Amino acid sequence: MAASVSVPGRVNLIGEHIDYHNLSVLPMAIQRRVSTTFDARHDSMICASSQGYADRSFPLTELTPFPAGDWGNYLKAAAKMIARRWTLVRGIDATVTSDLSCAAGLSSSSALLTGFALALLHANGIDPSIGELMELLPEGEQYVGTRGGGMDHAAVLASRAGCALLVDFAPFRFEPIPIPPGWTFLVAHSLTVAEKSGALKAEYNARRTAGMEALRKLGFSSYREALNEPAPDRLAAPLPADQRAAFLHVVSEAKRTESAVTALRSNDIEHFGELLSASHKSLRDRLLVSNPALDELVECAGAAGALGARLTGAGFGGCAIILTRTNNLEQVHSGLLTTFYARRAAFNEEGHLMVATPSTGALGV
Ligand code: GLA
Repeated sequence: MAASVSVPGRVNLIGEHIDYHNLSVLPMAIQRRVSTTFDARHDSMICASSQGYADRSFPLTELTPFPAGDWGNYLKAAAKMIARRWTLVRGIDATVTSDLSCAAGLSSSSALLTGFALALLHANGIDPSIGELMELLPEGEQYVGTRGGGMDHAAVLASRAGCALLVDFAPFRFEPIPIPPGWTFLVAHSLTVAEKSGALKAEYNARRTAGMEALRKLGFSSYREALNEPAPDRLAAPLPADQRAAFLHVVSEAKRTESAVTALRSNDIEHFGELLSASHKSLRDRLLVSNPALDELVECAGAAGALGARLTGAGFGGCAIILTRTNNLEQVHSGLLTTFYARRAAFNEEGHLMVATPSTGALGV
């Protein structure tokens, strides 16, 4: 009988472009999911189908990538990573279905890769720990696109219903933090897309390199150490512009994330909102990962009465996360419809604007 794995998308509340520097982040899983239904095979073939995409099949011994951008590369990346640790003998017949938008900053690619990895592991009778998965899956992403950090995999695996997930990386740890009653997060699409395997890849990786280079030139061994620096602006002043900007974004975003965790624990919704907006400014003006549509969306959210908003995920398109008091949701929602979305014919509410329900990750822990 067919088995199935269901992996949610995620939205990052705060802590953007800092996970790959091993700094803490605060994402949560959402209600939209990628589901993989599968049967174990008696040979080593992988045969996968998904509506709207060409069927892909290959043996576990043939993991050379398809051309860039092919969805089959997520399957190959998953197989490649788990074969590093475990011996896989059985392939699978798999069907993937999803109600999660692609290229929207909601981790559809990590959900696909993670779901496929879990399906292959189950088919081979392997029950991995979250620590083992976290050592392998984030690295697998580089076969398909960006050299991201581990935020997406942690969120889609370990999130808990009703909670945001505080994730630390060195060492890997996570802690669900309940979202207080009366807080509502909206996820709103900018109607511009960020294709991970396309132009975004080089831009994203350049931000990572600039941040690492800044750290090296300033003589710190890690960003954790750099956070103790009392005057980061003065210290970073001599660096080339992109490195200075990356350094200042990372250091300030780490501090905002820490404050946001305190605000969440103490039910300080206004301060949390302010931190979201400050995060957007830093992503827009320092890291240069926003675009005009995202900036306009964030502005419109504020004008509609949201307490804060910012781009979420890698940026360069995709979605914004918007915070409102639940009792003000109607006003923020209709404000967005009459401003940002009224000017955009491609808008359809089902696909582009939703209240994010903090959901359970694939491991259901
Ligand atoms: C992408 C990556 C994540 C993270 C974000 C930016 O979503 O996959 O690891 O770096 O960008 O915060």
